[in-house]
Formats: sequence, C-alpha cells, structure tokens
Amino acid sequence: DKAGHKHFMAKEIAEQPVVLGDALRHYLSDDGRNIALDDPKLDFASLDRLTLVACGTAYYACLTAKYWFEQVANLPVDVDIASEFRYREPPVPPRTAALFVSQSGETADTLAALRYCNGRAERLLSIVNANESSIARESDLALPIYAGTEIGVASTKAFTCQLVVLLLLALKAARDRGAMTEDQLADKLSAVRSLPALMNLTLERGEEFRRASNHLAEADHALFLGRGMLYPLALEGALKLKEISYIHAEGYASGELKHGPIALIDQQMPVVVMAPRDALFDKTVSNMQEVMARGGKVLLVTDRGGAEEADDGVWWQLIVPDCDPLVAPILYALPAQLLAYHTAVAKGTDVDQPRNLAKSVTVE
Ligand code: M6R
Repeated sequence: DKAGHKHFMAKEIAEQPVVLGDALRHYLSDDGRNIALDDPKLDFASLDRLTLVACGTAYYACLTAKYWFEQVANLPVDVDIASEFRYREPPVPPRTAALFVSQSGETADTLAALRYCNGRAERLLSIVNANESSIARESDLALPIYAGTEIGVASTKAFTCQLVVLLLLALKAARDRGAMTEDQLADKLSAVRSLPALMNLTLERGEEFRRASNHLAEADHALFLGRGMLYPLALEGALKLKEISYIHAEGYASGELKHGPIALIDQQMPVVVMAPRDALFDKTVSNMQEVMARGGKVLLVTDRGGAEEADDGVWWQLIVPDCDPLVAPILYALPAQLLAYHTAVAKGTDVDQPRNLAKSVTVE
C-alpha cells in the first residue's frame, strides 16, 4: 500500500520523521535525555577499535559513523566494503568490535564478513532492519533500526534510521569512554531529538526539490561534493541518482576536486554541493568558485547562513533548516533522496524497481 503516494520510494521518504521518531523512542530513556543501551555487550570503554563493514548505502552509513565515533568518542574506526573485507582477510587486532550494517540482514558479502570475524573480533554487533535475519542471528547483539518494511529498491528510510542508531552508539561510546561531559551529551541528544521536526520542515519543501530535479533530469552526468561528515553523503547522493534515474553520477570529497574531477567540469554537468554553514564552509565556497569559474553549474544544498554567504553565481540553491553540525548528515540525506526521486520521476524510469537491481543481494 503506497498510502496515496505514487511510488513506495516517495512513501518511504515521507515516513522518515515518523520511523526515525520510533527508533529514538526505542533507544532513548522516557524523558529522551539518556541513551537506553545498557547491554554489557556494548561497553565501549573496553574497546580500542571498531571495524564497520557493509555494502552499498549501508556502507555509506558506516563511513559517516567513522566521523562520529572518532570525533565524539575518540575511538578509532576502520570502515570496509564487505566484498573487499571478506577476501582480504585482514588481521583483527585485540579489543576490536566488529559492527555489520545491513537493512535486509541477508547480504551475502556482509554475512561472510561477519563469519570471518567470528572468533577473531572481541564482539560481533549488527544494525539491521530484519530482526529475524541471518546477520541478526549470527551476531552477539543485533540492534534493530525500526524503519518498518522498505520496499523501494533504493534505500531511504533504512539509511536515515541506520544513521541515527550509529550516532546514538557513538554518543554512548563517548559516555562510556568519558570523552564527553553530561552537559555536552544532553546538548547533542537534544539535537538528535529535533531531527523528526527538522525532517518535516525539509519535506514541506518538496516542490522546490521537484523543480530543481526537472533540470537535473536533462543532464547525462552529475557530480556530488561534500566535506567532512557530508562527504559520505555526496557518495550516497550520487549512488541514489544513478540507481533510479540512470544518470551517471560520482561523489567526491570536495577537497579532491583539484585532484582530477575538475577536468570534467562544463555546463553540461551539474555539481551538487551538500554543505551546511559549518566550520568547513569557507573551503567549500572556494570549491564552488572553482567550479563556477569553469562554467560549471552549482546546485547548492545548504542552510540559511550558507545561502547568504555563498557566491552569487550559484545556479540553484535549496535551503534546509539549521541544525547541529553533528546531525547534518541525517537531515541532508532527505535532499539527496528527493533530488534522485524527482529526477527519476521526471525521466519516467521505474523508480521502485530500477533495472538490474534487487532489493536483497543474497548472492555474490
Ligand atoms: O540489505 P543491505 O543493507 O545489506 O543492502 C546493502 C546494499 O545492497 C543496498 O544498500 C543497496 O546499495 C541499495 N540499493 C541502495 O539504495
């Protein structure tokens, strides 16, 4: 049942404020001021390292989480693509927990990576949407994301719910490891709790995303740029666009622009920049100027402050509500999804069942 939406993907994008709220209710204390994750299997004080392994969009959630764990909890994190990890057979140092992220819980490579870590890692953790799945069953502790059934092949609500569970884990790690004061933690938790409302405000701007997407639909190629915590989201934005609109898209860390992709810039290739006005915004402004100086068209997704500061030459601006920089990757996921969705609709592709793709990749 698409609940009045044209596609399951549209429904699942729209559901995010509600399902993310559900996840928060499960993982926060009743007053919302504490993380209710007191399982002894989740004691980050006894760990020296975390290894995150996944495929596709779940892998991008892991890449984002690396920034969170390292910044707030001072815990070193390795992130790997499951198909690489399983055959590379890397050494697993002592006091390492391995965490596998999978919507379906049945992805063949992720499951094989988990089995490889069995007996090597201190702890096998997973973040899943399917609680009865193989990955959930074979881990020491499986954390559900509470996203509800996701039917669209392009992952949307599972991604943001994976992110929020990962962020809460990082904040718990910060508490376990004494890396944050109680006041700092309370402040960050309040930023997390504000997400459903901020997502609703973003979704209300759907029409602006649709108009911008009508122009994106004319392109054959697109580049996505982001810095810091928004870099993995540039990768995710590019993946989403190529999966359902079949437009060739690549995501890059903004700082890599000069190291190759700038050679591609012309009027034909829009450059989508995801950049809240955070500590790195000035750097992103220079990247945008480099693009515009070469005739490139910049589509900037930013907040009000960013829009004021960005250069006049920006082709299209989409404004997202202000938020704490820590939660920006979760909020900015919505613009990435909306752009891909409306572009695919404008192109008339099969949004929920894109060609050649399966919802669950249970074979290599
Ligand atoms: O079920 P999983 O989360 O393990 O699936 C991983 C990927 O196959 C999945 O995220 C894929 O990249 C999606 N089609 C992305 O939209």
